[in-house]
Amino acid sequence: MEDLKKIPAAKEDLDSYETENIFHSWSFQPAQSPMRAVSAKGVRFTTEDGRERLDFSSCFVSHNIGHGDQRVVEAICEQAKTLCSFAPSLSNKPRALLGKLLEEVTPGDLSRAFISLGGTEANEAAVKICHQYTGRRKILTRYRAYHGGTTAPMTLSVGDSRNWAQVPGGTEWVPVPLPYCYRCMLGQTYPDCGLQCAEYINQAIELEGGGDKVAGIIFEPVTGANGIVVPPPEYFPRLKEICDKWGVLMIADEVMTGFGRTGKWFAMDHWGIVPDIMTMAKGLTSGYLPLGATVVRKPIGDYFKDHFFSHGATYAGHALCCAAALRTVRIYQEDNLVENSEKMGKYLLEKAMELKEKHRSIGDVRGLGLFVGLELVKSRKTKEPMVPVGGKVQPGTNPKLEVAKKLGQLGMMAMAANPGNVIAMAPPLIVTRDEIDEGIAIMDQALEVADGFADAE
Ligand SMILES: Cc1ncc(COP(=O)(O)O)c(C=O)c1O
Repeated sequence: MEDLKKIPAAKEDLDSYETENIFHSWSFQPAQSPMRAVSAKGVRFTTEDGRERLDFSSCFVSHNIGHGDQRVVEAICEQAKTLCSFAPSLSNKPRALLGKLLEEVTPGDLSRAFISLGGTEANEAAVKICHQYTGRRKILTRYRAYHGGTTAPMTLSVGDSRNWAQVPGGTEWVPVPLPYCYRCMLGQTYPDCGLQCAEYINQAIELEGGGDKVAGIIFEPVTGANGIVVPPPEYFPRLKEICDKWGVLMIADEVMTGFGRTGKWFAMDHWGIVPDIMTMAKGLTSGYLPLGATVVRKPIGDYFKDHFFSHGATYAGHALCCAAALRTVRIYQEDNLVENSEKMGKYLLEKAMELKEKHRSIGDVRGLGLFVGLELVKSRKTKEPMVPVGGKVQPGTNPKLEVAKKLGQLGMMAMAANPGNVIAMAPPLIVTRDEIDEGIAIMDQALEVADGFADAE
């Protein structure tokens, strides 16, 4: 083994470690190192070449309060001086306080939180709670969803006594349609459709064994990575009626949509509906440290007073991460960031609509708050997707990644490398009108690349 202090760290060395020693998520492993971020402030970040760039992705929709906020940095340092983390079986002040704060900011009687380290873990916990509380096995999920990257790891923990509550064979998933009106899977047109995507769910629950077998339905209130899909206003009220009728739990995955992203504290607030379980991460700490939470309604939380809660983690309620969350959550309120998201979101959507007028590659524009998507099509007339959807990702030219590359050259990062055909713009919630204008001007230029792949009108 080399003397670890002497491992070279020049630019070329770091580049080679990136290509040889690191796994890069959801991609072919790159032959060249991606550019290196070295610092970030507000809505901008600086790369190693010294260039300042605009962050219109909030780093996969996490840095909601903006980069480099010293109030959070100080809160982390302050906590680190006394206690970074301790056994989760003991209490720590930041965790206890965060539990109370989450009760305050979430709707209705959502009141007990399992605090983990990210969105995937938050959803794992949600599914297990759903199974344990209902005693049922099936979970409905909607097509074009992303709820996290792990296979249920507990299934693999064979012989470990904590495995006893694991559903045999893992969770049974039942896919149902998404209320994706631009491409309705049921061939309908809103508003004449009678909300058949919701009625489908009613029938699916019935045919899957109703309240005896179906435990819950998990959904992103506004679909994120797979297309910024905003449901029609009547959708969630109807879904709630259906779930109540069967006693099926609603699991709202607010990992992307939570903490002001859509112009309300949580996206479900747009419809005044309290889900049974809400998951969150990203904006919870604005990415300053990793953290996730699974918050349940009071009857579910109380159930576990005399029923064993079969889930846990070493870092459940990590003190340092909870301290970061406490400061972050208070900043949303102090700086009126939720209100700014609503106001600036309307402006961003308006500007995105103008882009549609200019670019034949844009088939649809959708959004809520500072969460706006441009759907790329090969042809507006046929709605043929610009990039084929589903199946194994093939190497080769991908028009959307070409747009992402162009954005990078022009000095901006948007969410353009995610699956599907939607380029999402989700700047930090502190964004101003001028910064939106700047971002839209860059997007305008980059979309010329997409137009090159679209049919003439
Ligand atoms: C809606 C949603 N749920 C869950 C996750 C997983 O979160 P994490 O990457 O923190 O594990 C993501 C990540 O992008 C997400 O968008």
